[in-house]
Amino acid sequence: GSVAVILPAAGSGSRFGEEENKLFASLGNRSLWMHAVEIFLRRTEVGMIVLAVSDRDRERFEREIRELSGSDRIRVVLGGDERSDTVAAALDEIDRESANTIEWVAVHDAARPLVRDTDLDDVFDAARQTNAAILATPVTGTLKREPAGNREDGARTGDAGLGHGTTFDRRGMWVAQTPQVFQLSLIRGAYDRHRGRRATDDAELVERMGHPVALVPGAADNLKITYPADLLLAEALLSERMKNPNC
Ligand code: CTP
Ligand code: MG
Repeated sequence: GSVAVILPAAGSGSRFGEEENKLFASLGNRSLWMHAVEIFLRRTEVGMIVLAVSDRDRERFEREIRELSGSDRIRVVLGGDERSDTVAAALDEIDRESANTIEWVAVHDAARPLVRDTDLDDVFDAARQTNAAILATPVTGTLKREPAGNREDGARTGDAGLGHGTTFDRRGMWVAQTPQVFQLSLIRGAYDRHRGRRATDDAELVERMGHPVALVPGAADNLKITYPADLLLAEALLSERMKNPNC
């Protein structure tokens, strides 16, 4: 069956700290977001790509899409305030457009420009076997949990003093990446059940249905560009790959 790729691109890039969306930052002489699109456009199993954008950025995305060849496979939809709202809107588009030809959905952050084809092969294979699979990497650092720390950027919302951390055993702990690949009916069901509730990734909603999600070891350099330093690293990795395609 054919794959639909959802590329959530409707965030604002607030941690990146620029006025414009980080997805328009330049990487390898084009916009950061174009890399993920180009990677999936080259894959023959991909029947459609749904790029979910904010109202603010829509015109710019549509303009830049015209620079891509194969853009007839790309649909643009409006995302939502939370990433899960964005994915829900993209799933609606898949239903409207081609639910009968699509069997698999791969959700991939538009902010991950360096995912490798070999890792895509692996996660698609695992999904065909288990119906739900994601790329992930083993945790390398030591994990500390600070009970009062609940903000995404690590800043504290409570009292101003230093927090106290307790250490977690990192054995068996993984960092989720994307793509996260599901049978269409499975992720459709997960979103129908959990619409409106917050989730940090799509696999979490599928797990809540009681369906296991396979962890597929992926390359650590499948970076999500979050801070400006991530873009510097991505630029270096990309130029290294250009010099040596096997690295
Ligand atoms: N995203 C989205 N809709 C949202 C929030 C995020 O489509 N409501 C997308 C982003 O555009 C990005 C991906 O989800 O491609 C991963 O999110 P993240 O890296 O957190 O990007 P932003 O939310 O844009 O950045 P920040 O959290 O720093 O504001
Ligand atoms: Mg975000």
